[in-house]
Amino acid sequence: MWDPALYQRYSDERSRPFVDLLARVGADDPRGVVDLGCGPGTQTATLAVRWPRARVTGLDSSAEMIDRARGLDGPVEFAVADVRDWRPGPDTDVLVANALLQWVPGHDRLLRAWATGLPAGAWLAVQVPGNFSAPSHRALHEVAGRPRWRERVAALLRADPVADPGGYAALLTDAGCTVDAWETTYLHLLPVTGPDHPVLAWMEGTALRPVRAALGDGPDWRDFRRELAGELATAYPVRSGSVPFPFRRVFFVARAGCGVGGVSPESCENVTP
Ligand SMILES: C[S@@+](CC[C@H](N)C(=O)[O-])C[C@H]1O[C@@H](n2cnc3c(N)ncnc32)[C@H](O)[C@@H]1O
Repeated sequence: MWDPALYQRYSDERSRPFVDLLARVGADDPRGVVDLGCGPGTQTATLAVRWPRARVTGLDSSAEMIDRARGLDGPVEFAVADVRDWRPGPDTDVLVANALLQWVPGHDRLLRAWATGLPAGAWLAVQVPGNFSAPSHRALHEVAGRPRWRERVAALLRADPVADPGGYAALLTDAGCTVDAWETTYLHLLPVTGPDHPVLAWMEGTALRPVRAALGDGPDWRDFRRELAGELATAYPVRSGSVPFPFRRVFFVARAGCGVGGVSPESCENVTP
């Protein structure tokens, strides 16, 4: 279960990659814009401001996230849906998936289906965290592998599901797109505002959700959390009241049908925004 309030604790840091991603999308007047895995919908709302004539839709498999999104004012339609079952429509001119695909194993097949199903000239804009070998994830795996937790927690942790920019670029050029792919490591300076280590607070909004769901809210979760906090305090020391937290993210923006053998070059103007 996703908790929108926990997820939004670092909303400023989490929104920045979305802004950087959308800055590379050059669509002028799209008909349909879809935000897959839209979460609490705050980023989706900015798409409706940018493209007021478009039909903007946000989809997410979490009922809690969609409830939160529906509480926002604005013209965006929000619905509960699993992106694995979703396919582009003939007027889907912009597809956004920000911080979604790390939760979808085997997403290369899905990306191929989206890229080949979008109308010619449509934009596909994706950001995925590329931090699975970061100290935070190593600490989580280390604690989960301890005898007390191994059976209930270690099996929940996923192997790195994310490719590098070159991997995604190859996949999408093979699917007939032009591609702009890159990576960025943000250095978040997370302020220490309470008793919890800020990286632990960050992880509670995302990577730790399945662990908490498995352990429940009782003493097991509290002990696991304490053990992990100890590891994180060593990996990410406090400096002048905040914790430097490097976070690598992988981005790619593709245009459907505009690559080699593209189907409709006249739909592919303004490739560079
Ligand atoms: C890290 S949040 C990102 C939310 C939002 N895109 C943002 O940038 O703030 C990941 C979201 O993906 C959703 N999600 C994960 N797997 C999904 C799936 N198979 N179908 C639809 N949504 C999914 C989760 O419910 C969650 O809201």
